[in-house]
Amino acid sequence: MSFDPARFRALFPIFQAPFDGPALHYLDSGASAQVPQHVIDAVARQDSTARANVKRGVHRLAEAATEAYETARLAAARYLNAPSPREVIFTGGTTGAINLVARAFGDTLGEGDEVLLSVLEHHSNIVPWQLLQMRRGIRIAVIPATSDGRLDLDQLDRLVTPRTRLIAVTHCSNVTGALTDLAQVVAAARGVGAKVLVDGAQRAPHGPVDVQALGVDFYAFSGHKAFGPNGIGVLWGRARLLEAMPPFLGGGEMISHVSFEGSSWAPIPNKFEAGTPPIAPAVGLGAALDWLAGLDWTAILAHELRLTGRILDGLAAIPGCRILGPAGLQQRLGVVSFALDGLHPHDVCQFVDATHGVALRGGHHCAQPLMESCGLVGTVRASLAPYNDDGDVDALLDGLAHAIGQLRG
Ligand code: ALA
Repeated sequence: MSFDPARFRALFPIFQAPFDGPALHYLDSGASAQVPQHVIDAVARQDSTARANVKRGVHRLAEAATEAYETARLAAARYLNAPSPREVIFTGGTTGAINLVARAFGDTLGEGDEVLLSVLEHHSNIVPWQLLQMRRGIRIAVIPATSDGRLDLDQLDRLVTPRTRLIAVTHCSNVTGALTDLAQVVAAARGVGAKVLVDGAQRAPHGPVDVQALGVDFYAFSGHKAFGPNGIGVLWGRARLLEAMPPFLGGGEMISHVSFEGSSWAPIPNKFEAGTPPIAPAVGLGAALDWLAGLDWTAILAHELRLTGRILDGLAAIPGCRILGPAGLQQRLGVVSFALDGLHPHDVCQFVDATHGVALRGGHHCAQPLMESCGLVGTVRASLAPYNDDGDVDALLDGLAHAIGQLRG
């Protein structure tokens, strides 16, 4: 069945909003996706009809708020095919989720234990492990990238050792768009009894995820990239791991009992949700995930990949354009990064925004180690969502041609 991006786009008020200058061509969904009206409405409805704190009040509003919040947790559990909603923890986003694991699981590691990352990781999946290294003396090892911007999984045999405790990798690179073959990562981890954490920030917005089929141990993603509100994200973890981990933050309803002699912790997931959580954002994310789960992802991914192919073909025809990432459409999503000889990515992004209304991201994409390994300070990045169409790709390619003509002189 074919997919109609115009009908999808009509759900998003931003595309009807008046703008000064050229019409909006939004190709920065990898940084933040736009929000459909029904998600905006779900957040507003929560705050206008059921605003109260959760898990602690006994009045009607508090019960309604708690029910809405826990219903959102069920939606996240369904989206991830998690065995139980107890395994779903609401966080501030992917960064918060990974920091939680780096702190709570990380505190069960010690001197000489190894965490294996990859050169494709976002800083959010590097820096928390470096902080752990400073606290606990762990070692960090790094999977290199192949020349087409994938994790070089042939190196796993060499890099996974009996001291490897965790492999923490991206499901889809926010720079190259390459999807990771997690089955290979999980097999290597299981061989030495290590756990696997997956940064799903770029993958989760492109259709439901099955954590049970993937066989991973932790999975993190952000609401704002998945057509949901800001300030909300999800950490899924296997119950027995979460139960064995100490809490990360203290306070609020994460306790079972508190005294000055010592405190005890609530069962999961509450143990990891200290303080008042982002209630309305969680409700909005639940609405976004339930809606995403009902879409035809076979048709949507075909649509996104067709547009990706057009972008790749257009870039390949530009002299002095270097694409970081797979040149083909296999095992990738619609994230395309490229460098143009002699042009700074920020200049290109500002130019195509001003002249053609194209919103791109330019810079290091919070992936400085990858940029350095490629000998670049940054790239221009186009990242797609289902609302993008051929007009967006035309505007991008026209804008780039114009930018090159003007800026290269
Ligand atoms: N992590 C987001 C990106 O890749 C912000 O743009």
